[in-house]
Amino acid sequence: GSVPVLTVDGPTASGKGTLASELAAKLGYHLLDSGALYRATALAAQDAGISLEDEASLAMMAAQLDLRFDGHRVLLGGRDITDPLRLESTGGMASRVSVHPAVRQALFQLQLSFRRLPGLVADGRDMGTVVFPSAELKVFLTASVEQRASRRLKQLLGKGVAATLDGLLADLRARDERDMLRSVAPCKPAEDAVLLDNSALSIDASVEQVLGWWQARR
Ligand code: C5P
Repeated sequence: GSVPVLTVDGPTASGKGTLASELAAKLGYHLLDSGALYRATALAAQDAGISLEDEASLAMMAAQLDLRFDGHRVLLGGRDITDPLRLESTGGMASRVSVHPAVRQALFQLQLSFRRLPGLVADGRDMGTVVFPSAELKVFLTASVEQRASRRLKQLLGKGVAATLDGLLADLRARDERDMLRSVAPCKPAEDAVLLDNSALSIDASVEQVLGWWQARR
């Protein structure tokens, strides 16, 4: 039999990470945070002094990525990278790394290996379009850039990280543009995706909505 997959795609700071991990917990499924793979590749490249434009070397790094997920911690070559992985600057580097087709190709098999019983919730930009086109349910989150920036600002200030709304707006716009306009695997809804605008929804309400769709399809 095939392993059920539920994909959650959407732009930066749309809340897909939170939604996907809650769904995985509720369903008892595995979780693939595909952005973490691009982020880890960027950190590994930075450590090795590799330029973010050097496609061949970046692809080699990606293919050899020694990444382990240990509960909420993430280990790269045995080193705990949980905190640097989540930095805004790392997200920005990841978005530059992810434009290279050879890097995306190198991470493709690794992403497929997350599809294991009893099921998988995968979040990212191209989960429904490229990596898991046969997923039973594809959700695409939408929320305005202003909405996403103000959520992210609250999160960062809550963690005691200095940030401004204008700075975040500029960062998100630059990342959206790179992620949506790139020629390979741009961030866009699959043809058979369900759109979910979570601007006015709590996390719990979003989770319930998606679980309802999931149950209706199974
Ligand atoms: O989702 P997250 O912010 O962690 O992703 C970081 C960057 O990695 C994104 O801005 C995007 O450029 C890239 N990415 C991607 N494809 C994915 C997941 C992330 O290109 N499936």
